[in-house]
Amino acid sequence: MTHTLPADWLLSLEGKCRLITGPKDATEMAFELKQRFKDTDGIFSLLTIPITRSVLDQAPKLRVVSNMAVGVDNIEIPACTERRIPVGNTPGVLTEATADLTMTLLLAAARGIYPAIMDARQGKWKTWSPTGWLGTDLDSTTLGIIGMGKIGRAVAQRALGFGMRIIYTDPQPVSYSYATQVPLDQLLAESDIITLHIPLTAQTRGLINSKAIKLMKPSAILVNASRGPVVNTEDLYTALVEHKITAAALDVTDPEPLPPSHPLYSLSNCIILPHIGSATRQTRKRMAELACDNLLAGLEGKPLPNCVNPEVYQR
Ligand code: GLV
Repeated sequence: MTHTLPADWLLSLEGKCRLITGPKDATEMAFELKQRFKDTDGIFSLLTIPITRSVLDQAPKLRVVSNMAVGVDNIEIPACTERRIPVGNTPGVLTEATADLTMTLLLAAARGIYPAIMDARQGKWKTWSPTGWLGTDLDSTTLGIIGMGKIGRAVAQRALGFGMRIIYTDPQPVSYSYATQVPLDQLLAESDIITLHIPLTAQTRGLINSKAIKLMKPSAILVNASRGPVVNTEDLYTALVEHKITAAALDVTDPEPLPPSHPLYSLSNCIILPHIGSATRQTRKRMAELACDNLLAGLEGKPLPNCVNPEVYQR
């Protein structure tokens, strides 16, 4: 295990395997763990730890990689598949928490909560101002959801409650009665608020760049609770400074963590959170438990409850 987790999140592992744990706040693979890779049967990883081809090369006995995250962009999946190592992830259990956090960002950006809090704290609240701290209504505005997977759909359900019209893009031609599927360019041009719910892949890296931003309304708000590199950070910074769009609300950044000196922090129209989409006590425990289930299944040679490369089971 590349890190340390609360013992009551790991009860199912008791007596089933010998657990070697890394530090509490792991930013990279601990040296001691690497030293022991030659005997390692399974890896339980976090999204901050790259599981590269060279890591796999050092672990000849490895039979399973279990990531405590729904995203698996930290793992070289083809290298695992070549070695017939199943990779597990934790979809489903974090859907509601991530959708809630997305709505938090969306509402905070739409109502200018961050500058309002700062102004109140800094003594700039002199009176009730009829024209001060004006945000935008959500009712009857258009929400563009890029990626209508589990989290995208959970965000749509919440946004409907706020009276929003929903349009979306998705690689699958699936239709939903409450939302309209449109091409990406149309979504970018028509949406008042755009929210990203896609995995980071070679195709989605930099999807939101200056070219995409050019299509957006000057009043548009961009919300990202997926993966930082889906948005080109420099292009977003320029767009916010030049008011090409109105605001951004980010739970994820590129790089991560975004260093405190980064110019994005200086902008009052940009909210930045430290990647907390799934960060509720209940959800994180469920993620750990599902990651344990995946790990144990892999160690026992059984199909993982959630496997991202099921091709490994084909003969
Ligand atoms: C969090 O970002 C996750 O992928 O679970």
